[in-house]
Amino acid sequence: MSSQDIPEENLPAAQRGTHAPKPADDKNPFADPGLPPHEHRIQDIDERAAKRSERTVALLFTVSMLATIGFIASFVAIPHDKSIYVFPLGHVNAMNLALGLTLGVALFTIGAGAVHWARTLMSDEEVADERHPIEASPEVRAKVHADFKQGAKESVIGRRKLIRNTMLGALTLVPLSGVVLLRDLGPLPGTKLRHTLWNKGKLLVNMNTNEPMRPSDIAVGSLTFAKPEGLDEHDHGFQNEIAKAALMLIRLEPEAIKDKRELEWSHEGIVAYSKICTHVGCPISLYEQQTHHALCPCHQSTFDLADGARVIFGPAGHALPQLRIGVNDEGYLEALSDFEEPVGPAFWERG
Ligand code: FES
Repeated sequence: MSSQDIPEENLPAAQRGTHAPKPADDKNPFADPGLPPHEHRIQDIDERAAKRSERTVALLFTVSMLATIGFIASFVAIPHDKSIYVFPLGHVNAMNLALGLTLGVALFTIGAGAVHWARTLMSDEEVADERHPIEASPEVRAKVHADFKQGAKESVIGRRKLIRNTMLGALTLVPLSGVVLLRDLGPLPGTKLRHTLWNKGKLLVNMNTNEPMRPSDIAVGSLTFAKPEGLDEHDHGFQNEIAKAALMLIRLEPEAIKDKRELEWSHEGIVAYSKICTHVGCPISLYEQQTHHALCPCHQSTFDLADGARVIFGPAGHALPQLRIGVNDEGYLEALSDFEEPVGPAFWERG
């Protein structure tokens, strides 16, 4: 059905009359093609179709509410370290997956509901607006005010109470996703960062090969990552433990080591430092052989590994903790104790 089938007095103000084409003239060098005749949507002329659209929009907003509730339930109910197998990703953290999916659905369905509402139920009339001076006159401001009220009226939000109520519900619930995440700001870790899996006699295992290491396996100038023996990536709690115990092994020329304690805690120039940055805990992964500097890729904190891993640049406020190492009777590298200071972000210790 076209606009000609609807009595003009029943049309919204913006749809009455047409914007007629205008030929080019001296003032306007380009011809104005005008607006094409308006084609009404099925929802404009069939109340049952409009009701169907209304129910679809309400369904999308309701799905958003359920997804937000699912988000909160996932956050509360799924253990932080639970992993599940997902093809083709492999093992992923179950809580992260659930949070991502539910929040994605909650936001998507709000957007989809709003778009469907706008496309099927709000006015879709094209309106020609003539250019006018930038400064708005009182009449224009009054017209904007009137247009705003007209827009609110044409959005049918007053009449479609089901849409209004479900939209308000979805928009009210979705911010709760952010609020519940605030729980992760606490509690403070207390003494948890003071203890790692390292202790006297624990072998240093190469993180790539899973083999214990001898000093001869580590070349001068190389960077090797190590973990405590017995810590397997399929173990329950692996992520928590490796986040505290991950180690960098660097072999320096002993005479290049400036710090006396560092030299005493090393073995034949091999020094072992926590791989966890003392700023906010990113894994350090870059090492510059000539300068003996280790660089954190997150915010560029730089540590001098030949001088007690002190901070020489960047936001980290604390040197990297060093692990005291030696070799056992069979010639394998082993820890001689746990770290003597907490690993990871130093700001936990403030105040
Ligand atoms: S986490 Fe390393 S510099 Fe910020």
